[in-house]
Amino acid sequence: MKRTLCYLFFLLLANASIAQNTIVLGEDSVTHKIDRNIYGHFAEHLGKCIYEGFYVGERNKKIPNTNGVRNDVVAALKKLKIPNLRWPGGCFADTYHWKDGIGPKDKRPTIVNAWWGGVTEDNSFGTHDFLNMCELLGAEPYLAANIGTGTPQELIDWVQYVSFAGESPMSKLRRQNGRDKPWNVRFWGVGNEAWGCGGNMRPEYYADEYRKYATFMTGWSNSNKIYRIAAGANSANYNWTETLLKVIPNEMIEGIGLHHYAVIDWSKKGSATDFTEQEYFTTMKRALQMDEIITKNEALMDKYDRKQKIGLIVDEWGGWYEVEPGTNPGFLYQQNTMRDAMIAGTTLDIFNNHSRRVRMANLAQTINVLQAVILTDQEKMILTPTYHVMEMYKVHQDARFIPITLKSDDYVNGKEKLPAVSASASKDSLGLTHISLVNIDPNKSHTVTIDVTKYKLNNVTGRLLTSENVNDHNTFLNPNRVAPTVFAGASLKANTLTVKLPPIAVVVLELK
Ligand code: AHR
Repeated sequence: MKRTLCYLFFLLLANASIAQNTIVLGEDSVTHKIDRNIYGHFAEHLGKCIYEGFYVGERNKKIPNTNGVRNDVVAALKKLKIPNLRWPGGCFADTYHWKDGIGPKDKRPTIVNAWWGGVTEDNSFGTHDFLNMCELLGAEPYLAANIGTGTPQELIDWVQYVSFAGESPMSKLRRQNGRDKPWNVRFWGVGNEAWGCGGNMRPEYYADEYRKYATFMTGWSNSNKIYRIAAGANSANYNWTETLLKVIPNEMIEGIGLHHYAVIDWSKKGSATDFTEQEYFTTMKRALQMDEIITKNEALMDKYDRKQKIGLIVDEWGGWYEVEPGTNPGFLYQQNTMRDAMIAGTTLDIFNNHSRRVRMANLAQTINVLQAVILTDQEKMILTPTYHVMEMYKVHQDARFIPITLKSDDYVNGKEKLPAVSASASKDSLGLTHISLVNIDPNKSHTVTIDVTKYKLNNVTGRLLTSENVNDHNTFLNPNRVAPTVFAGASLKANTLTVKLPPIAVVVLELK
């Protein structure tokens, strides 16, 4: 009898520890959507992102292309439903003079890309090439303007060139260059990293510069209202955000940027593929810091913008490691493993859960640079684990946000710990409910119990991205080592959904 009691007690304890991860789906009454632009990307004139990544040139016979843009890349990004693309930088943006990149290609000046490897930039990919490519992709362009070395006139001219339908010197020039209809660009970055490569400005000085540039930007677009995005803070620099909010009147700004990279240590970033569990843990700690950084920025924005007009735009995020051995250090080419899938899943959950304020985000960067979704090698192209996460999470784009209450077990590493499970939820226009979940624990599976009482759900299906080791990745020789599969680990009984997440796993459930 004593033995049986002990056994029952043990079972109870075991069950108690299993039931540590709980989620309650909140009321079905939230009115805001998860803006599809949260799933945006970023393409800089850096390394092999634009040249060789997106653009291989009109005369290329080896790689199938449309006006020089790779067809395989376009198809892959369309599958992601890429909502927007930021260009031409990054640091490059504040050295870029857009008039160098228009007109006949053989007459365009050649410059040096001083920020990224000191390579020759022949300007063969310019404004028309980028905006036409966005049309091909079905993505909205997000142009980052030059505030560091440009002039207000240069920016006004650019706005007029791409968005003005009437008769003006710039629309005339556009027509001479073969484009009659304006592209009507909505998203404009007013500089980039003004605290660093954009001019090493103090926030007070930049805020005044912003006011000056922003004043002259409006009025040129016929159908679209311009969405001006101020160059935002570096990670946890809250003083930057607050100064901008204090100095710039709300009616002069639509978005405020934020850059945060998951980097172990800027002086010792570690290998992208060959890393220890400690390095993995530190990377995830830095990635999950995004939640705190956004929460604090939100609090500041709520103080200065009570009507919640201004969006928080995380226009650079992702993992940053040492470049692959033997590659140009200025090209920031790195492999992409299950660690990056963990960064992507948890970060997208954070964005979804803060979608009241986070209205746009841009993963750095789309192809062959930092946490890329695509890697290319001549005519070959592979999709990274990060690509697969973005593809699985696309169900949240423009879906109605569902608030969740999450209680997570710990992922323990020595004396430190992090929440093992992250999640977010939404309901799409067809009435389908989606719940995304991530288990970052490389050593343990985690069972999550989800209370769906507030929803009438009868059926669950799912997709899973996982692999044996956290440093597993796709290569040109083995391109499908990491790829999504059907997930059979979820069961729905009455109003309780039980989900068994394997170690290092991303799961997206669909419920109806
Ligand atoms: O994404 C690479 C670089 O990181 C960008 O050019 C810059 O804005 C940031 O520091």
